[in-house]
Amino acid sequence: MRMYDLIYTKKLGGALSAEQIAFWVKGAADGSIPDEQSASLLMAICWRGMDTEETLALTLAMRDSGKRMDLSSVPGLKVDKHSTGGVGDKTTLILGPIVAACGVPCPMFSGRGLGHTGGTVDKFAAIPGLKVELTDAEFLHSLKETRFANSAPTGNIAPADKKLYGLRDITATVESIPLITASIMSKKLAGGADALVLDVKCGPTAFMKTLDDARTLAQSMVDVGMAHGMQIRALITRMDAPLGWAIGNALEVMESVEILRGEHGDSELALMSFRLAAEMLIMGGAAKTLDEAQAKVQASLRDGSALETLRRFVALNGGDAKALDDFSRLPQPGQVVDVCADQDGYVSAIDGRALGILAMDLGAGRRDRNDVLDLGVGIRVLAKVGQKVGKGDLLFQVYAKSSQTIVPNLYKLSLEFSMESKPLHPWLMATIGC
Ligand code: URA
Repeated sequence: MRMYDLIYTKKLGGALSAEQIAFWVKGAADGSIPDEQSASLLMAICWRGMDTEETLALTLAMRDSGKRMDLSSVPGLKVDKHSTGGVGDKTTLILGPIVAACGVPCPMFSGRGLGHTGGTVDKFAAIPGLKVELTDAEFLHSLKETRFANSAPTGNIAPADKKLYGLRDITATVESIPLITASIMSKKLAGGADALVLDVKCGPTAFMKTLDDARTLAQSMVDVGMAHGMQIRALITRMDAPLGWAIGNALEVMESVEILRGEHGDSELALMSFRLAAEMLIMGGAAKTLDEAQAKVQASLRDGSALETLRRFVALNGGDAKALDDFSRLPQPGQVVDVCADQDGYVSAIDGRALGILAMDLGAGRRDRNDVLDLGVGIRVLAKVGQKVGKGDLLFQVYAKSSQTIVPNLYKLSLEFSMESKPLHPWLMATIGC
């Protein structure tokens, strides 16, 4: 088999066989196929697409490039969740402990952030001492003891994805539905969960900008999951403004804990986290209907069991669980700068992508894979879409290093004002799957 022929076939819009795809993925991962040939095929796939069979074959070849977690020693249906990425998305920190507290084991492998979107692993890393890269034995131990485990994927989960994602990242080939499907689903299938809830983000801040594209991606991932006997369901959720008030790692831990304490219960972030958790409870067999599942979610907040599950998970994995009750133990900024409104009006839009980039520049995110984060910096977003503000009202608090110069106007540019209030768009745009 020659890599040249695969590239040529795809360049002309033809379909690749499962054998050809397996040959490519193996060669890309072991280095026998040069990066320039893989990059060229990636670009051809971006332009020409892949049909369902090719996408399935790519997912399987990537899954089989490494090990598969065996979670069979943990009783019960194991349910995972994946979000396609956003700004301020800390739903895993909230729903993982809730789902576990309601009796459903929740094994999660999470990524580190890159660019304007944050990564769950970085948020957990803001809890002092918490080990965020667990060995298989530690992962299983955490799942058995607390019903919750979260780790950066240990080296050998879908290593071909690591290689191909690295190439996609530098060749503008990330935004391709078959490539995103195979990348996400190969890791999820290797992770060993029985069921998966997908949170497919849609909007200007997300990979998928339109509802049609988000539906196509969601359906593509649902098809791959179902072909493997996985229970799978996707929610398409709006991603334009940041999710919640916190952007930045320690700040996002604080906001998650506040929600687990029962605060901000009607915020979009809380409602979205509760709904995703409820879907997971139904899949895990802990509830039959959405109403029953939602009641269990609320009970786990009221009786404190969800927060206690997070404390136990943190303590078990070497972290300072006291930091969840005393935020002064979390990483702190060198300075806090207030940004206030210089006009009256209604906030009609907040540009999450712009704020994600500003937070990255503060040191909360990585421009380059090797950047070292400052876990205490970030942005407290006090302005809300639809809110009436007056001149002088606080819009943002910027948590920065002491050496950084903050230019308030850069933050104000992320807000759009109007003279009258406009209708709010619902956060849930569609659901797909069984
Ligand atoms: N997240 C992934 O893990 N892979 C993609 O391709 C896109 C988002």
